Amino acid sequence: MPTTRRELLRNGALLAAGVGVLGPARLLATAASAEPTLAELARASGRYVGTGAAMENLLADAAYRALVTNQCTHLTPENEFKWTTLRPSPAQPFNFGPADLAVTFAEQNGLRVRGSCFTWANDTPWWFDSYVTPANALSVLEQHITTVMTRYKGRVYSWDVVNEATDGKGYYPTRWAKLLGPRYIDNAFTIAHRADPAAQLVMNEYNLEYTNNYSRDRQRFCLKVLDDLLSRNIPVHALGVEAHLEWAAVKDQFDPKQHRRFLRTIESMGLKVVITELDVLDVNLPTDPVYRDKCIGETYKRYLGTVLEEPVVEGVISWGLSDKYSWMNTGAEARFNRADGTKQRPLPYDDAMAAKPARAAFAHALAGAKPVRGRR
Ligand code: G3I
Repeated sequence: MPTTRRELLRNGALLAAGVGVLGPARLLATAASAEPTLAELARASGRYVGTGAAMENLLADAAYRALVTNQCTHLTPENEFKWTTLRPSPAQPFNFGPADLAVTFAEQNGLRVRGSCFTWANDTPWWFDSYVTPANALSVLEQHITTVMTRYKGRVYSWDVVNEATDGKGYYPTRWAKLLGPRYIDNAFTIAHRADPAAQLVMNEYNLEYTNNYSRDRQRFCLKVLDDLLSRNIPVHALGVEAHLEWAAVKDQFDPKQHRRFLRTIESMGLKVVITELDVLDVNLPTDPVYRDKCIGETYKRYLGTVLEEPVVEGVISWGLSDKYSWMNTGAEARFNRADGTKQRPLPYDDAMAAKPARAAFAHALAGAKPVRGRR
């Protein structure tokens, strides 16, 4: 992530000049592929397709930039809206440079922007524990959410207000939960709605897809939290289902009928569902990339073929579009390191931006998707 002023100025100049943003790279991609884009296929059922991506990758790699702007209509800046990016310290001004760059890039390329996220255990700036106390926590949270959402009002249409708040049968012990109790969730959504009443406010969760006890516990508790919030008229509008999938789990512990019941329960609560971070972990598959890509494609087919049968699912955001920029391939987390030393292959396109079986499965599921409510 560019943090230096020089890098931001360079990127800003790039955007301002429009060099590579709407230039030949995108036209090339359009000309090269006569097949419908993922976005066009999604639009046919009243949905959208997007991806999580980092500006440093989109601006540095014209081929990736063309792929994303050609295949998607939505963008979730991967880290630009996080505390660790926005808040260098409580004494310094907000660092809006990266997020400004992302929103401007999106607007220049006709992409709608999702912002992520305002409360998350894994996004804690270095100064947090020494600065935030039970006495000032609510005002710190309010200042953060209000400042950020006011700046991007009308430019960011949807926000992951609360990220990964649950853990099985209870609340995840995040710093906000310890400082304010579980009502930090009420606080965050209420503050967000006041800041931008038109924004879609989302509770984003992971591991909601499977029939094993832990996932079922997570599903049940997630429904309880949402029900409690709605019973107090807290303005939550959608559940974000991250869908960081694992190929064996989808093969052996995913029951389409059960997952559709879960999605319909969310719909019965008057909420929407956004698939917010789709990718497929293949850490345990054998080395052969052809076989791996076949298995991953089958996972996309099984999962998307299920969730796109439900009108409550309004859109699908993958977490990256090319394996080249998957968060699982940065080396940051040892759990993603394969024994054979090869990189993960979790996304619809490979390192060279070539379509994989997962892209075909994604397209096929979108083409056969049941329309969202109100669309013929
Ligand atoms: O920008 C700094 C750079 O200046 C520094 O030199 C470098 C080494 O310390 O770190 C860089 O920041 C990293 C950042 O990604 C940008 O690359 C952080 O350390 C690293 O923790 C961060 O990882 C992100 C992670 O969330 C934590 O915020 C991943 O890119 C991102 O894909 C991942 O995404 C999350 C969603 O937000 C929430 N759901 C789960 C998903 C996967 O963890």
